[in-house]
Amino acid sequence: MKLKDTTAANSFRYKWLLQRIYPFIKPYMARVILGFLVAIPVGALDGVVAFFLKPYMDYVVGQKDLIFTVFNHTFSISWSSLALSIPFLVILFAVIQGVLRYLNSYLTDWTSQKITNGVKIALFNKLVYMDTSFFDENTSGVIITRYLTDPDTASLGIINNLKSALTSSFGAASLIAVMLYSSWRLAIIGVAVLCIAFVPVAIIRKKIKSTSNKNMVIGGNITTNFNETYAGNKVMRAYGLEERQKTLFNKQIHLGFDNNMSLVKRAGWMSPLMYLIASFGIAIVLGYGTHLITTGKMTAGGFASFVTSLLLLYKPIKTLGQTLTGLQTIFVAMGRVFELFDIKPELTNKPNAITFNGLNNSIEFKNVNFEYVENHRVLKNINLKINKNETLAIVGNSGGGKSTLVNLLPRFYDVTTGSITIDGIDLKDYSMNSIRQNISMVFQDNFLFSGTIRENILMGKPDATEEELQNAIQSAHLEEMIAELPDGIETLLGERGLTLSGGQRQRVAIARAMIRNSSIVILDEATSALDNKSEAVVQKALDNLIKNKTVFVIAHRLSTIKNANRIAVINDGELVELGSHDELMSIPNGQYKALYDMQFKKQEAVSY
Ligand SMILES: Nc1ncnc2c1ncn2[C@@H]1O[C@H](COP(=O)(O)OP(=O)(O)OP(=O)(O)O)[C@@H](O)[C@H]1O
Ligand SMILES: [Mg+2]
Repeated sequence: MKLKDTTAANSFRYKWLLQRIYPFIKPYMARVILGFLVAIPVGALDGVVAFFLKPYMDYVVGQKDLIFTVFNHTFSISWSSLALSIPFLVILFAVIQGVLRYLNSYLTDWTSQKITNGVKIALFNKLVYMDTSFFDENTSGVIITRYLTDPDTASLGIINNLKSALTSSFGAASLIAVMLYSSWRLAIIGVAVLCIAFVPVAIIRKKIKSTSNKNMVIGGNITTNFNETYAGNKVMRAYGLEERQKTLFNKQIHLGFDNNMSLVKRAGWMSPLMYLIASFGIAIVLGYGTHLITTGKMTAGGFASFVTSLLLLYKPIKTLGQTLTGLQTIFVAMGRVFELFDIKPELTNKPNAITFNGLNNSIEFKNVNFEYVENHRVLKNINLKINKNETLAIVGNSGGGKSTLVNLLPRFYDVTTGSITIDGIDLKDYSMNSIRQNISMVFQDNFLFSGTIRENILMGKPDATEEELQNAIQSAHLEEMIAELPDGIETLLGERGLTLSGGQRQRVAIARAMIRNSSIVILDEATSALDNKSEAVVQKALDNLIKNKTVFVIAHRLSTIKNANRIAVINDGELVELGSHDELMSIPNGQYKALYDMQFKKQEAVSY
């Protein structure tokens, strides 16, 4: 499943998206609702200043006392006490609004981060169980963007935008209420104009979606570029690829620029257009307002209150516009995030998977065909049976399919056709974990995690005793190296610490495999990076490791190959010869013999 191809087909299915995000919001629902409840008065208090302008103008400036009747009781407030109390009330409401605003931001940020973390953790949980082929097909940049940046966009924004939408709506509503209170005739005109001003937002929704998707792809490419510049730094410098990397980077940055500007070109006229529509509104309001005052249908204070509300209305309306456009981006990101949740690994355990407890009889490849890419067969009709405690050496041309063959056993990939059986039961009927737990594997390119040497070796068997650990270190010929390190076995490796040589890395990987001590051992060029002396020592240890084990060894060393019970020659995906060293050597014009004459004979001359 190539991630570039999933471009948020669901981003307009708002209900579906909200349903999907709901489980992540649910645990914090009480706080979310509290935050929303607080958002209401925060917005509503926007109307306070405008509201007080009317009594202030009409009574204080006009020096009239306010007389009003409630339930047949008549109250009177003098204009001078109004002059004192109105400014005080304005300040008081501002303080209340400030406190509520703080409470609201705190709640919003708290909940959005919690929700985002929930989404990220859930996504990462899925990522670690993705098929090996998923990681073959997708670049690191795309994966980082999709699994880290998108969840941020999707969930950090959602609560914030909903909160803003709520605050702005209530702000707008309270201001509109003040407008209605001042003059319903003018208010109708004002609101009608506002509605027209919102039409453009709806129009550019689609454009926002496509821009956001393109940005995701570009962002991924940029991250990949950084990763390659980092990981491939030496190759880049050695082959003078700095220009190439720079050009690639510049190209992506410019693509991003063009992409964003194409949205700005369309979205940029929205705000001026809204302004224009609004100015028509204001012109009409001014003219009609003057008419209402001169005909005595409205007080000057009412008009001041109305115009102030209308002007103040601009802010919440603008925020609301931005929020609605912002929500589009969020929904697109959400669409992409929930697509990731729906990608199912193809390699799964069957419902009643059998637990594998170790080999009893044999492992059998039956008519195994395998292709990484459709119609491009890498393994062709392999038939092979390995008995318990047998050592099978695999040799053949580079790119012939040796690594691929052994990678099928821990089910990194499933056979395309044919089958692999263990003790007569299909590999797919076992639980993947139980199979993998019973395999000690040393890869062709060994990866060590950042952490200490001890931690890396113990990954083979987390509950190993100190003695087992020391044995593994000894067998892998690591003692000397560890003794020379200032922090010994506690030395940090990887990004945060020491960088090991290829051979040292290989030996740590061998120690990791040794400590696991499983009944099936897979060694893919396990000693290829060692010098003759280390190799001789490590080889001896490997000989110990593979005693009484079922072993697949892809080797370049004649002694290993000769000592194997049988040798399989895999050339261009086909099993061309199978037998002991002597048997294969006796085939006239045989492929093993040719390989021997070309490669191994020299070694024999050197080593023996
Ligand atoms: N992840 C992958 N996706 C697509 N093709 C792959 C992948 N890994 C290997 N191949 C292809 O499959 C073929 C067999 O590769 P494999 O690594 O099994 O060869 P090999 O016999 O181990 O070679 P070597 O001796 O060089 O390690 C090669 O043509 C290779 O290009
Ligand atoms: Mg290989």
